[in-house]
Amino acid sequence: MMRPRAWGLALMAIAISATARAESPQNLYTLNCWGCHRANGEGIPGTAPPLKNAADFLRVPGGREYLIRVPGVSQSMLDDADAAMVMNWILENFSKGRVPPDFKPYTAGEIHQARQQQHLLDLTATRNALIAEMVAMKIRKARE
Ligand code: HEC
Repeated sequence: MMRPRAWGLALMAIAISATARAESPQNLYTLNCWGCHRANGEGIPGTAPPLKNAADFLRVPGGREYLIRVPGVSQSMLDDADAAMVMNWILENFSKGRVPPDFKPYTAGEIHQARQQQHLLDLTATRNALIAEMVAMKIRKARE
């Protein structure tokens, strides 16, 4: 049996390690993404798109990679594991109901790989092409 004082020290150690541990995905989102994508992922017209339909990209070829190659993700201060966690959180929260049933969560390794890509994506052209593909595949009616 631990004596009361030992319990106190053990609890303190747990409390300290909990603060040192990674932040929740929600906090990471607030710190790193909220400025452009806002509290509920509604975005800011002309500055950042809403995230409510982000999961649609998972349904078209190249879309999964596109989502993590946007500068907000690939060039964020987040490490690979945290970036993967925030991405999965965004999809589950803001794009709920649109995530394909066979979706496999992003991993740290996948983010790492995307960050190694040498060629820069033409973001606007890539995004427009992916959305045109969604419309062609009847995933979306028109530009949303
Ligand atoms: C400086 C503003 C800004 C910040 C900060 C930012 N983003 Fe973005 N985000 C954008 C813009 C603008 C786009 C559209 C693609 C582009 O032109 O970069 C975008 C696109 C996206 C997309 C693809 C959705 C689509 O419809 O194209 C995802 C997913 C995303 N951001 C996630 C994040 C995450 C996660 C963070 C935080 C780690 C973040 N963003 C931080 C501006 C931002």
